[in-house]
Amino acid sequence: MDKMAKTAIDQIEKVFGTYTGYRRAHARGKSYKARFTANGSASHLTAAPHFQKSESGAMVRFSHFSPNPTWADAMSPVKGMAVQFQLPSGEATNIVGVTSPIFFAKIPEVFTEMLGVVKSFKKGKPSLTELAGLLADYPESGAMIANIRKMQAPASFATGQYHSVHAFYFINQEGQRQPIKYLWEPESGVATLSPLDAVALPIGFFEADIEDRVARAPVKFRLDVVLGQPGDPTDDPTKEWPKDREKLTIGYLEIIEEAPEADGIMYDPTLMTEGIECSEDRILNFRHDAYSISHQRRTSEM
Ligand code: HEM
Repeated sequence: MDKMAKTAIDQIEKVFGTYTGYRRAHARGKSYKARFTANGSASHLTAAPHFQKSESGAMVRFSHFSPNPTWADAMSPVKGMAVQFQLPSGEATNIVGVTSPIFFAKIPEVFTEMLGVVKSFKKGKPSLTELAGLLADYPESGAMIANIRKMQAPASFATGQYHSVHAFYFINQEGQRQPIKYLWEPESGVATLSPLDAVALPIGFFEADIEDRVARAPVKFRLDVVLGQPGDPTDDPTKEWPKDREKLTIGYLEIIEEAPEADGIMYDPTLMTEGIECSEDRILNFRHDAYSISHQRRTSEM
């Protein structure tokens, strides 16, 4: 187990508090059963079974990023959508996405250090002045901090665009490697909330809204992969790839019914399958141990 991962989780608990039985990040959320239909258009890029023309079962969890489950919905402008695909072999593989294209730290050491600095998180209200002050020490985090300034929460879990943030490699039958990033696009269209509207929402509004929508009809997302080109960084979650990179639609997700019994799933973003590999991104690889420590703590507390 990476010692740094334990330090990072201890640091999250110190800054945000400890909430028995909850995930140490993205504490509040809602779980669903879903169906994924691959259209086969990625078959030349990856041997992954769920991306050949086929249907697979899937589990989905929507979440608010805060490690503190009592934060209002508006205080977590970043929302999460974690998807676990059930493969014919009985194995599983995950895509864990958020409504931000980038992360604020390039390496685990900086993540842990920055958490210690941002004291305002403790009060449940990150101060922009304090975040801006971090720029001098962590210039690579500038893009994310600028993003937070203009960040608008989606109006609903069903209307967010969810990015994998990290790069992965698709590997085809011939062994050729293509760097990709995932992007879930809401079929009902992207809709955001102004910060003022968001502040007025009652706690749990997002969960009630998605519950309503799914009760009426399946909530749908399209899965696109963004195709990286030589020179696009594959090891740096603080950098976006150029906007004009080709996107390929590879399948559709239909969210069908609530699955509270699945709320304990650990969505490890490094859980891969044949035809897909993790990139060299240190934050991505670090998340493996960090999620496992959080899972171990939250399940042993029940
Ligand atoms: C240093 C980097 C990071 C650390 C230490 C970290 C930590 C955590 C932890 C401890 C959990 C709860 C795991 C569990 O108990 O199952 C979690 C959940 C989550 N994280 Fe991260 N995270 C990091 C980076 C990221 C990034 C870059 C993304 C962007 C995709 C992300 C998206 C999510 C999402 C969506 C969840 C909720 C998953 C679920 O619904 O179970 N995290 N994170």
